[in-house]
Amino acid sequence: MSTAALPALHPLLKDFLSRKTHKLLIDGAPADAASGQTFATLNPADGSLLGTVAEGGAADVDRAVAAARKALTGPWSELSPAQRERVLHKAADLLEARAEAFAQLEVLDNGKPIREAKNGDLPLAVGLLRYFAGWPTKIHGETTPVSVPYFPGAKFLHYTVREPVGVVGAIIPWNFPLLMAVERLAPALACGNAVVLKPAEQTPLSALWLGELLLEAGVPPGVVNVVPGFGPTAGAAIAGHMGVDKVTFTGSTEVGREVVKASAGNMKRVTMELGGKSPNIVFADADLEAAAKGIFMGIFYNQGQCCSAGSRVFIERPAYEKMLAALAERAKSVRQGDPMDPKTHMGPLVSAEQRNRVLSYIEKGKKEGAKLLSGGAPAEGPGYFVQPTVFGDVRDEMAIAREEIFGPVVAVMPFDTLDEAVARANSTDYGLVSAVWTKDVKKAHQMAQKIKAGTVWINCYHFVDAAAPWGGVKQSGYGREKGHWAIENYTAVKSVWVDLN
Ligand code: NAI
Ligand code: MG
Repeated sequence: MSTAALPALHPLLKDFLSRKTHKLLIDGAPADAASGQTFATLNPADGSLLGTVAEGGAADVDRAVAAARKALTGPWSELSPAQRERVLHKAADLLEARAEAFAQLEVLDNGKPIREAKNGDLPLAVGLLRYFAGWPTKIHGETTPVSVPYFPGAKFLHYTVREPVGVVGAIIPWNFPLLMAVERLAPALACGNAVVLKPAEQTPLSALWLGELLLEAGVPPGVVNVVPGFGPTAGAAIAGHMGVDKVTFTGSTEVGREVVKASAGNMKRVTMELGGKSPNIVFADADLEAAAKGIFMGIFYNQGQCCSAGSRVFIERPAYEKMLAALAERAKSVRQGDPMDPKTHMGPLVSAEQRNRVLSYIEKGKKEGAKLLSGGAPAEGPGYFVQPTVFGDVRDEMAIAREEIFGPVVAVMPFDTLDEAVARANSTDYGLVSAVWTKDVKKAHQMAQKIKAGTVWINCYHFVDAAAPWGGVKQSGYGREKGHWAIENYTAVKSVWVDLN
């Protein structure tokens, strides 16, 4: 893997990375962890040390929550909706101006290819800030015609108000570190909340840098606090905190369950965006060229580390052999290498742990008798690379067809009828996304009705937008991020009665 002629690090990023320790951001200022402890964040492309980060724990979460609670009654609450909009627009402008530097940081901390960071994560993050910047002036209540059966003829003015829920705890994963942070912060701030954000321990840096950018944009101190740390310590402290009013969590279903349990202490609101084992269903009448591209991108984007990865591919029998061969061919031609190289298609997985988890699934697939058509091994070099792996002739009961792998491994299976495709697609504990490929409009919409998932893509895959809802059914979670659905999640409705009698 040659590193010659790679783009130079952005000077702002160089400066950021030269810090000896990346501190917590609490009440608008950098802070050491109360314990004094730090942890290392690595560059997954070669395993080298990228930075040393203060390790937040329960005491730091306490401080952050206290700062957030105080901020809820400070200058933040005095801003008019129009002023809040300007702050968010300023943040969008700043992030857009620094997109190159932030994209490079995502590559270094997460391992994703620079072309995905630049064309995906960054524009989406800026888009989310702009979209939610438009909301503060449009969040309003209603007047409601009320009847009071036990007081006939009585007259009341009744109206509702949408208020911030208060302190939002955001626990996010490592697959889209900046994007996940913005996806929570933008609507939370648009609605006037304060936030304690815990980035994933694998990828803490862009959230810290974003926190500073938000201060610069005019978000008052204490409104956004960033506390990197580990799940069982910092994460659990947020989930169980009596001063946190709502938790938004993205990660594994297993940890999601723990967070829901911990939320019961003070009945905090919870939204959960969890795992998936999403079906990508191709009928023989589809544009097979487009479907092949969609399947490929659906599973291998971000090295397969997407909650929405299309990891179960069902192909109608007449097209099965041809599509399977095309997919394996494509997988073999992937340019895997230094993610900082603009020509690289696929980078390393985020960590040695994740690589080992994925490799163990590949071994299970081989043992269970699936047909390995491409990949199936770690790639050469010091980083956490896994080759794009295609398994054919997979059976529904195999582990690689049932469990979330969260890596570049796809399970391909033939099917014969629409009803069979629906039944098998739905026979999973998950229900995040799905896709259907066909030229038959009727069939497409029949499938859209029958598939149990939060999203159905028809003749496309992995399209997302700030205005469209995002979330799952079944054990993929509940609640919706983005669009006006997020505004509902980040506000509480107050009912006001005025006696006119
Ligand atoms: P994870 O669910 O352990 O981590 C996600 C976030 O939760 C991180 O910020 C972590 O620090 C935090 N966390 C962990 N334990 C916690 C606890 N007890 N209380 C509160 N917060 C806690 O995910 P992990 O271990 O990184 O990956 C394991 C698997 O989870 C992956 O292989 C994948 O299948 C799935 N996953 C799904 C994601 C999605 O986007 N839906 C994202 C990341 C992982
Ligand atoms: Mg974990």
